[in-house]
Amino acid sequence: MAKTYWVETYGCQMNVSDSELMEGVLAADGYSQVSTPEEADVILINTCAIREHAERRVLGRVAELNRVKKRRPETLIGVCGCMAQRLGTQLIQQAQHVDMVIGPDAYRSLPQLIDQASRSAAAVVDVDLNPAENYEGLELRRKSRVSAWIPIQRGCNYRCTFCIVPHTRGNEKNRDPRTILREIGRLAQEEGITEFILLGQTVNSYRYGDCDFPGLLQAVARLPGVRRVRYTSPHPNDLTRELVEVMANEPAICPQMHLPVQSGSDEVLKRMARRYTREGYLAKVAMLRELIPNIALSTDIIVGFPGEADADFEQTLDLVSTVRYDDAFTFRYSPREGTPSTRMRDELLVPDHVAQDRLERLITLVRKIAAEKNLSEVGRTTEVLIEKRARRGMLLQGRTDTNKVVLIPGPEEWIGRYVTAVLTGTSGATFTGFPVGS
Ligand code: 5AD
Repeated sequence: MAKTYWVETYGCQMNVSDSELMEGVLAADGYSQVSTPEEADVILINTCAIREHAERRVLGRVAELNRVKKRRPETLIGVCGCMAQRLGTQLIQQAQHVDMVIGPDAYRSLPQLIDQASRSAAAVVDVDLNPAENYEGLELRRKSRVSAWIPIQRGCNYRCTFCIVPHTRGNEKNRDPRTILREIGRLAQEEGITEFILLGQTVNSYRYGDCDFPGLLQAVARLPGVRRVRYTSPHPNDLTRELVEVMANEPAICPQMHLPVQSGSDEVLKRMARRYTREGYLAKVAMLRELIPNIALSTDIIVGFPGEADADFEQTLDLVSTVRYDDAFTFRYSPREGTPSTRMRDELLVPDHVAQDRLERLITLVRKIAAEKNLSEVGRTTEVLIEKRARRGMLLQGRTDTNKVVLIPGPEEWIGRYVTAVLTGTSGATFTGFPVGS
């Protein structure tokens, strides 16, 4: 009988890509996707461990899936990804109906793990980190025919004191540039995909033999059929002039970057072990804007890190006002067991209400700046890559080369095409547009 699966994804783009990988492994083993968890032989939940909130959400969802299991006891439930890696067998104690706990380096053996779980009463746990596993040779089951996320690196060699990722994904491992280029070349030539987003935890620290990140990026941008290239997320320390020059000189590389800053205070940056200063970060931003004047910048910021005083937070607000980001993801510090920041002295802890207040002030500032910047773009004519039908109404949803979302009227056949549109309005965060040619 045909075997079926259901995969749910939480967390970052790497997880979205890992789910495409898991689905590829299952498809190769004869599985097909179903449209509800109730119909599936195997349910996989791909999880995130970056903040406590993310884990709580997943635990809630896993508990809910017990209903499916009660009605259809042969269904196997697997928890995958970073939370599975972090908790291992502990997860089984918290959710006894879970049949499999599968870390990010064990997806190649999904068919065997499923087989094992189906024949054993006890849960199957595979959370071995494998420094050699970068999933070379496996076919992803891609969701989009318009843009492709290409994982080029897994794991991380930085040791930011707040971050669980090195614990859950291990050290940095980079893929062979030849297979990356072959994969992108094939997707462009055979599947007509034109936009590629290179993916890695600190993607610009990529190196494989003599091939560094600027070299790989340039080669990708020059492949026939490749029209837009992006990458995420770079670490400020690995942002070199050479890389920015490649970006500036290659027409296919989009004028956009997500450059996490985390804090505007040198004291806090030091305790986070970010390995750059506020001044150093601002110098990188100045270099980006010097060589790519229209570049759109976004960032990640944590508030309430241990020891963050009012003056430190003011420095963060000041940095945001100085850089004027197009967008920022803002987070309240969440202590992750096993990370160095949890060992800081208790008196350094920032009270919840103070952190919450800072978060709200920061969000207000970020939104104000984003809205001002976006308002100043209304009336501009720009190229929009149409991605899909928008959730509401008869509109299509696409993106500018600066990664801004635009809703425009048009027929479904436009999905995958580049449409020239005039930006007619903005909600502050997204745009409406009107086509003026394609
Ligand atoms: N608490 C809050 N935010 C965190 N991030 C990473 N770890 C933590 C944590 N312990 C944020 C960082 C990172 C983004 C993906 O998540 O800003 O860039």
